[in-house]
Amino acid sequence: MNYFDHNASTPIAPEVLDVLQQVQSEVYGNPSSIHSPGQRARQYIEEARAQIARLLNCDPKEIVFTSGGTEADNLAILGVPPGHIITTAIEHPAVLAAAEHRGNSTIVTVSADGVVSPDDIRAALRPDTVLISVMHANNETGAIQPVAEIAAIAHEAGALFHSDGVQATGRIPVDVRALGVDMYSLSGHKFNAPKGVGALYVRDGVKVNARQFGGRHERERRAGTENVPGIAALGSAAALAPPDTLALRDHLEHSILNRIPGTRVNSAAAPRTPNTSNIVFPGLEAEALLISLDLAGFAVATGAACSSGAVRPSHVLTAMGLSASDAKSSIRFSLGRGNTLEQVDALIANVERSVARLRKLSPVDA
Ligand SMILES: Cc1ncc(COP(=O)(O)O)c(C=O)c1O
Repeated sequence: MNYFDHNASTPIAPEVLDVLQQVQSEVYGNPSSIHSPGQRARQYIEEARAQIARLLNCDPKEIVFTSGGTEADNLAILGVPPGHIITTAIEHPAVLAAAEHRGNSTIVTVSADGVVSPDDIRAALRPDTVLISVMHANNETGAIQPVAEIAAIAHEAGALFHSDGVQATGRIPVDVRALGVDMYSLSGHKFNAPKGVGALYVRDGVKVNARQFGGRHERERRAGTENVPGIAALGSAAALAPPDTLALRDHLEHSILNRIPGTRVNSAAAPRTPNTSNIVFPGLEAEALLISLDLAGFAVATGAACSSGAVRPSHVLTAMGLSASDAKSSIRFSLGRGNTLEQVDALIANVERSVARLRKLSPVDA
């Protein structure tokens, strides 16, 4: 399979798999136990905490391990005191659904390029605003948000600032101190670590109330025996150099735009993560193109969510002002470690062939 869906999930890197398997089979102690097998497990966790801290430029004690991006986002959104919160229309459901559960939230929309305006965030502030949450990079378009600027606005207003960094971590440099964020979420399976493990950075001095109760793990911020192999693997993935995808992504994008009439890139004018390209193929059902490419051995994604049999257009693309039809005609290509020029060239040829065939089957005015 030629895999171009790294924003959905990534394969585990070989060196990360070695760590995962070794720790899974050899490190069986409970990290809370004081005997040597327990202390050995503890060492793996603390080494991983230091590796994540190096990746984000923070102190190891500011890292809380979680079961992934969703739990990290939930902990950030639901763990702050009652009050008004501000977030955006393009967030992942892990943030949007948590904000809805909390209630008392304002959802700020985005520009046609899928970028949140700091002025719109400022305009949404209220005296009781306790938290602003804006993602670092969007999962569908790759658009990078002005988080440093918005963090400063939050602090001026006496509110906390959280960023969902799940699509940024391991792809672009992340420096939580320079960004000025109070909380920052990441997820292992988006950067070549296993699924089911992630972390929340919580700046020293920020109090986040636990969402699950039990033992006093993770400085009482997240109860439950730690996923030692997953955490060790997460740490080793944090030490990998980011994949070099920019030239391949640009080649893919330019070739599709040049060869296929009517195509456009969503968030084209925004700063974007170097691995993501979201392209509208006007008049075409993106699902049909996805299936055609899948049959030819290429995995890509649509932004559409399928619920009870009906395909709804992506909430991210519609927030950017795309029509439902253009949103349902958009395909996300997301590159990662291991993608080659040969694969990208084969993908371009197959996209061109599939689009020509599908357009012949159901001709429309694009
Ligand atoms: C931006 C963003 N936030 C959060 C998540 C959820 O992460 P996880 O799958 O680790 O729960 C994802 C995963 O798709 C994501 O893309």
